[in-house]
Amino acid sequence: MNIFKMTNTSVRWAFNFTKWNPSHSDMLLASSCVQTEEKDRLSRFYFRKDFKSSLIGRLMMRKFVCQASGKKYDEIKFLRDDKGKPMLFESNTYPNLDFNISHQGDYVVLAGECSNVKLGVDVMKLEYSGGKSLDEFFRLMTKNFSPEEWVMIKSSGTEKQQIAMFCRHWCLKESYVKAIGVGITINLQDIRFKVNTSVLDKNFIVDDTELYIKGMKVNWKFQEMLLDDQHCVAVALNDTSNMNLVFREIDFSELMEGCVPFLPRDEQYCLNYFRKCERP
Ligand code: COA
Ligand code: MG
Repeated sequence: MNIFKMTNTSVRWAFNFTKWNPSHSDMLLASSCVQTEEKDRLSRFYFRKDFKSSLIGRLMMRKFVCQASGKKYDEIKFLRDDKGKPMLFESNTYPNLDFNISHQGDYVVLAGECSNVKLGVDVMKLEYSGGKSLDEFFRLMTKNFSPEEWVMIKSSGTEKQQIAMFCRHWCLKESYVKAIGVGITINLQDIRFKVNTSVLDKNFIVDDTELYIKGMKVNWKFQEMLLDDQHCVAVALNDTSNMNLVFREIDFSELMEGCVPFLPRDEQYCLNYFRKCERP
């Protein structure tokens, strides 16, 4: 076990990928710092926004693991488990280390810990753009939330506030589902959140939300906050004593600080990226 090199690093990073317009040399550098199979996966995205968000997530993981484990940047290897969850190749060597990525709206986020805690993270833009009326949308979503959660969502005020409360509950569920790594194979109505602080804020963590599974309260901690007026984020942790830490925005130069490219510069790959449209 590589305990000596482990630093007790807790990380909460947010990257606004909508604001990021990479130059050709930025893209050359970034694409030489992701593993070949992930580089290939990225190239298949139709839109730049999807390519960029997933790419930034990969770079965040590498930066975090390098910082937390002391392993050399270019020697870190990731794989995905059978549910698609990224993990460190030598996860047995670093049993204290866990991290997770989420990307949605304008942000990519990473939460990472080296304190033997299991975690999941989710970010959501506080919007509904599905075209149907909100009542109809909520009706279609009925089975994903418990009756108590629906009371909380629907009694939270204006349509905008109801959408925000809906997104917050969705984000909480995703963070938990991602922490346990099961994707959506569990019945979402069995996972019930009890929100005790109704309003989230920037630069402040709300951690008094409770989780009940099949009616039983479980000992998990949820750290929630707003990244900006339009995005909420939730971190699920299976240790209630974990310290609260607010998300901090990082930019491309900080993300790449100390990077050691390990794939050759690929001009053609970058040209292909710049041929894509930003979004539909
Ligand atoms: N567990 C944890 N993390 C996973 C994962 C898994 N099984 N599979 C992928 N991830 C990581 C990856 O880093 C992925 O990004 P990448 O593919 O670019 O590397 C990232 O999480 C995706 O997370 P996010 O951006 O938040 O996407 P999502 O909200 O669509 O989550 C799943 C997708 C796979 C994690 C899963 O929860 C899912 O299938 N969700 C569908 C939506 C749903 O029904 N949610 C119910 C909540 S009410
Ligand atoms: Mg998500």
